[in-house]
Amino acid sequence: MKISIIGGTGYVGLITGLGLAVHGHDVICMDGDSSKLNKLNNGELPIFEESLHELLKEATDRNKVVFTNNIKTAVRESDIIMIAVGTPESKNGETDMSQLILALKLVAGYINNYKTIVIKSTIPVGTCAMARMIIKDNLKNPMIPFDVVSNPEFLREGNAVSDFLNPDRIVVGVDTPESEVVMKELYRTFDAPMVFTDTRSSEMVKYACNAYLATRISFINEISEISEKVNADIHAILQGMKLDKRIGSHYLNPGPGFGGPCLAKDLKSLICFAGKANAGLPLLKAVLERNGLQIKNIIDYVMSELKDIGSKKIAVLGLSFKAGTNDTRNSPAIHLLEKIADTKTSIHVYDPVVKNLEEPLHSRVTFSTNIMDTIMDADCLIVMTEWPEFKELNLEMVYMMMKTPLIIDTRNIFSPNKAYHLGFSYKGIGITNPIFDSIDVSLKNII
Ligand SMILES: NC(=O)c1ccc[n+]([C@@H]2O[C@H](COP(=O)([O-])OP(=O)(O)OC[C@H]3O[C@@H](n4cnc5c(N)ncnc54)[C@H](O)[C@@H]3O)[C@@H](O)[C@H]2O)c1
Repeated sequence: MKISIIGGTGYVGLITGLGLAVHGHDVICMDGDSSKLNKLNNGELPIFEESLHELLKEATDRNKVVFTNNIKTAVRESDIIMIAVGTPESKNGETDMSQLILALKLVAGYINNYKTIVIKSTIPVGTCAMARMIIKDNLKNPMIPFDVVSNPEFLREGNAVSDFLNPDRIVVGVDTPESEVVMKELYRTFDAPMVFTDTRSSEMVKYACNAYLATRISFINEISEISEKVNADIHAILQGMKLDKRIGSHYLNPGPGFGGPCLAKDLKSLICFAGKANAGLPLLKAVLERNGLQIKNIIDYVMSELKDIGSKKIAVLGLSFKAGTNDTRNSPAIHLLEKIADTKTSIHVYDPVVKNLEEPLHSRVTFSTNIMDTIMDADCLIVMTEWPEFKELNLEMVYMMMKTPLIIDTRNIFSPNKAYHLGFSYKGIGITNPIFDSIDVSLKNII
């Protein structure tokens, strides 16, 4: 089939475009960002994702993908127009629909025969119905038929290529039998169950999934906080929980809270549009609140441990919001840096793939080219992202290189016992403090 992706150089648009291309479709990745288009036309990637280079190479070697800023050609030459533009958070927490509305208007202006418009962007419930009106109002010839379909994307950054190519399921919201036939043909070669719903339910599936995943993360972070206070160990607790088949092991890693471009933004959007429909969502508001508390507690700890912070050197490992991606949108590491940037402390950072930050933060920190330079003579090491190379660090060497042996491990990647044994002051999330037994006699008596 002939498919255009509007927003085709973004995270979702590019992976969708390349994924459909290697499935044999002819894909036009259309985008307004010329720097990303130039990179792609030179065989370079604008984002970091495992296996994405191989996917780009396969799609381009087979002449199955074109990168362009020409929306007219993209619309006219395609049967399906997928829209994967950004739907960021606006100031009041609602979804900023401006990129989507503009894309719909532009697409509508070039529709010349029947098209299926598929919305991949995450959009509040009711947006497909609104999109239909926008397209209708902007068609050059009002007699031309078209359908609007919801097809939310569930890929995870860090595993995006594999997730797109091997989805657990494909959710599609359709309002006509014709568009259902088109979508079945589009995904015919994918080995995944397809769930067909009406457009509103499909839009809601995406929010329900992200709200559920966010809830699990906030839940385990809350359990971690209690564990620290009663001297129970989150690693042991998780072992006992994860083997319960009703619970499982995904999205139960204690840490600095969920970051990235989706979970918090989608939760806020859901709370906003639910509010308009008179649903208060107390549980999901608490999930968000807990998440904010998580990074605040870590920042408070850093500040309280580093007395006279202006004279200290802090080493921060990891800038992306999770391992496997260079995406720093809403990254807990960035929230931390913004806070300590206000002090006079010397901040040294290292991330395997993030080599730039937005100003003014970029000029405020020192980028090291390797982990050891970052750590050398530091008064505090803070691990913010769970990159595999950080897990492999030799703690004996780290101990010798640091000026003050203090580790704040927000991803629980190190062995606490080993760290304590070497003489570090070590703070994980939900980790038992071995000196607890000798200090908290009162709690011991209660227990
Ligand atoms: N990133 C994720 O992990 C993820 C996962 C699932 C769903 N989503 C959703 O997918 C959507 C896209 O997210 P993203 O992370 O890929 O965003 P992104 O910012 O990486 O990509 C959006 C792209 O759209 C382009 N664009 C904007 N307006 C345009 C226009 N009028 N014409 C052509 N191109 C235009 C931008 O230049 C950009 O390249 C969002 O709704 C997001 O919530 C994202």
